[in-house]
Amino acid sequence: MSDKVLFFDTTLRDGEQCPGASMNLRQKLEVARQLEKLGVDIIEAGFPCISDGDFEAVSTIARTVKNCRIAGLARCVENDIRKCAAAVAPAGERGRIHTFLATSPLHREFKLKKSKEEIIEMAVAGVKLAKSLVDDVEFSAEDASRTELDYLAQVVEAVIDAGATTVNLPDTVGFTTPVEYARMVDYICANVRNIDKAVISVHCHNDIGLAVANSLTAVAHGARQVEGAINGIGERAGNAALEEVIMALSTRPEAFGFEAGSTPHNINTREIVKTSRVVSRMSSMPVQRSKAIVGENAFAHSSGIHQHGILAKRETYEVIDPAVVGWGETELPLTKHSGRAAVKSRLEKLGFNLSEAEIASVFERFKKVGDSKKFVYDDDLASLVDDSLDTEHGTWKMVNLQFVAGASAMPTATVTLEKDGKAITDCAIGNGPVNACFKAIDRITKSKGTLVDYNVRATSAGQDALGEVSVKVQFGDCACKPVSGKGAATDVIEASARAYLSAVNRNITLNLLTPGC
Ligand code: KIV
Ligand code: ZN
Repeated sequence: MSDKVLFFDTTLRDGEQCPGASMNLRQKLEVARQLEKLGVDIIEAGFPCISDGDFEAVSTIARTVKNCRIAGLARCVENDIRKCAAAVAPAGERGRIHTFLATSPLHREFKLKKSKEEIIEMAVAGVKLAKSLVDDVEFSAEDASRTELDYLAQVVEAVIDAGATTVNLPDTVGFTTPVEYARMVDYICANVRNIDKAVISVHCHNDIGLAVANSLTAVAHGARQVEGAINGIGERAGNAALEEVIMALSTRPEAFGFEAGSTPHNINTREIVKTSRVVSRMSSMPVQRSKAIVGENAFAHSSGIHQHGILAKRETYEVIDPAVVGWGETELPLTKHSGRAAVKSRLEKLGFNLSEAEIASVFERFKKVGDSKKFVYDDDLASLVDDSLDTEHGTWKMVNLQFVAGASAMPTATVTLEKDGKAITDCAIGNGPVNACFKAIDRITKSKGTLVDYNVRATSAGQDALGEVSVKVQFGDCACKPVSGKGAATDVIEASARAYLSAVNRNITLNLLTPGC
């Protein structure tokens, strides 16, 4: 058995299925590049047959990323599998088809309406087709943790004979417990004749908060691939948080069957915090402050006793050196006197890969913000990138904004937006200045958005901090996928208007790529 655990990152596929976390192509590419720096073994870049946007994202990532395997997801049907093969083709030998089919009685009877034998036939046919198109084939028995063990073993044996080199046993609905999951992995190891020809993979959801514990227990029992998402984002309560699984293995290898002091993975842990930030920014999913490893408070000691202990010897109250996961690598903040070269170099250090035109556009915003703010911190700059590029790439660009508000004033906003070189100004009243701005933007762009979530945070300390606003907006009658947007400015009302406009622009782009719901 290998002494390394492979990490399969599905932030861009299962993670992105989290309502409100959808990312555009630029954002997905930034995440993929950062995952490559982190050193994950496999990036699941999307579900190519689900939309043209997903196909483009998978093939662009397959073309761009050079040091990871690139997987695409496909149902066990011909069209999906062929499309997936075409999408991962630019990765050459590093391309993987990940095909899945549900195996549990509930799914067989109510969703698929197929017998056990029919499921095995479909799985084998799908894997054989995938194998004729790429060398690296993964099969997932969806809802494996609720499948009869003897039947699960038959499916696994059949797909390995058909050419699968990774077999994934997902806890699709986050229902299992560590003891039960260990029993499942043990059973598969003991009862599948050809199990030595495939890597056992696990994929856990967090519905009862056990995704990381289940993944680690499976590793202790022989699984050698862990699937999950950075920051634990994903459907419902999310996927296993990869950074937690990685650091559990780094910190306690002996607790999971590895030699004490060994490093049973290929991850560059110093990139963890940066990766968490990039994913949080790109997906507009904030990280809970007390989240293990990557939350702002993960290494903050407030009690006097703890602070005293830490100063005497760090290990008294810290089991991980924060520097090992990339905390504390901040540099001097930029100021309005910083030139374009300094801004460009800082953007590169933050992991942004921007064209000269994009850098020019961010620099323009940086100068404006620098005039009203003494220091521009790294997080401020990152917010400006998301904000200015989303707007630049969209259809509408903010040119001007004025608003009137106060205890006895009628909240009114006048907004000027530009599209294809033509500026349009309109105004609206609302129940507050933010609402008035949104209504004015709706009037100009002829959209009808309903705000379903609104968050504001300061990107740095101090009274002159940038306010970063994240919104989720539902357009039309479709409640299935709210569109997210982000904006940053020293004024939170301007930041709100920018965030709303970025959601409007993103909605226009999504409708162009995949019309309808
Ligand atoms: O949760 C699940 O079962 C999945 C499969 C498609 C692997 O995401
Ligand atoms: Zn899943």
